[in-house]
Amino acid sequence: MIILGIETSCDETAAAVVSDGTGILASVVSSQVKIHRPYGGVVPELASRKHIEAIVPVVDEALSEAGLSLKNIDAVAVTRGPGLVGALLVGFSFAKSLAFALRIPWVGVNHLEGHINSVFLEADPPSFPFVALLVSGGHTSIYHITDHMTAELMGQTRDDAAGEAFDKVAKMLDLGYPGGGIIDRLSRQGEAARIRFPRPYLDKASFDFSFSGIKSAVHRYLSNHKDKYLEQIPDIVAGFQEAVVEVLSYKVIRAAVEKGCDRIALVGGVAANSRLRAKLRTDAGHKGIRVYIPSLNLCGDNAAMIAAAGYHYLKAGMVAGLQDDVFSRNR
Ligand code: KG4
Ligand code: ZN
Repeated sequence: MIILGIETSCDETAAAVVSDGTGILASVVSSQVKIHRPYGGVVPELASRKHIEAIVPVVDEALSEAGLSLKNIDAVAVTRGPGLVGALLVGFSFAKSLAFALRIPWVGVNHLEGHINSVFLEADPPSFPFVALLVSGGHTSIYHITDHMTAELMGQTRDDAAGEAFDKVAKMLDLGYPGGGIIDRLSRQGEAARIRFPRPYLDKASFDFSFSGIKSAVHRYLSNHKDKYLEQIPDIVAGFQEAVVEVLSYKVIRAAVEKGCDRIALVGGVAANSRLRAKLRTDAGHKGIRVYIPSLNLCGDNAAMIAAAGYHYLKAGMVAGLQDDVFSRNR
């Protein structure tokens, strides 16, 4: 089954062509980062307008990269939510009309299930069951995954998402937007142990997270060291990153141990973080747990993961109808 995937939930206009939920024939991501950078965050209205301009060229490019035309597409999978409603509507309406015109099935996909399915686009995917840590700009959650359609939520952030904390700390230090990749690179020049920030474990037995406190701790550090913090930036961001990574790694490993799983998947934009990738692999390795992390281009938002998840929805007989609509928050 050849599926055209479409993703427009935030600031990336993406289209992909995926065969049988695993083989990427093409994956095109058009980023709006440059447009939102002057504002230090995504401006919803601008995002919607840019999606409208980009959607047709991006789909065309994906088809031509795959060497296919619309008549070769068997079904369309599109992100339905969560995300920015105006942005989602562009991709969703486009997919709805395209499927209607081509008289082929289409299906709305939960963006978070999309991220989880990104591991199945790699050559050696995990078998079920496994525990997944989803870390992105909008979400930080741990799931127990028992099949392609079933995810039990074990814990999630009570305030900021991990990626949001990276972005906010980068903004505080005037490092640029989006902050995650910048902090990742800058941390390599610093020494994490020099400035220790509190580890926000909450209750160590809980799988919930809280990242707003650590962000405030960084803010306090800057206020208390006004005269010298500018020379310490690599150490500050390394210290901050280490605190976040330590808590993420600890909790997902404990979740896997509790479920008796020897497999962990790390997915979402923050899964691109080099320290998190390395630390989780090492710490999980000590417990005999194998870690599955998609390649960098599949960590951030993309449409291949949406097509991968959509494949399983469609195989299970789920199809969307013209009356279906997007949703902004997970229900
Ligand atoms: O999954 P994603 O592309 O979009 C959402 O669904 O939110 O995640 C974007 C988030 C941003 O907060 C960005 O700063 C973060 O992922 N990010 C990183 C890295 N690369 C992207 N965070 C830490 N380290 C990175 N290398
Ligand atoms: Zn995402």
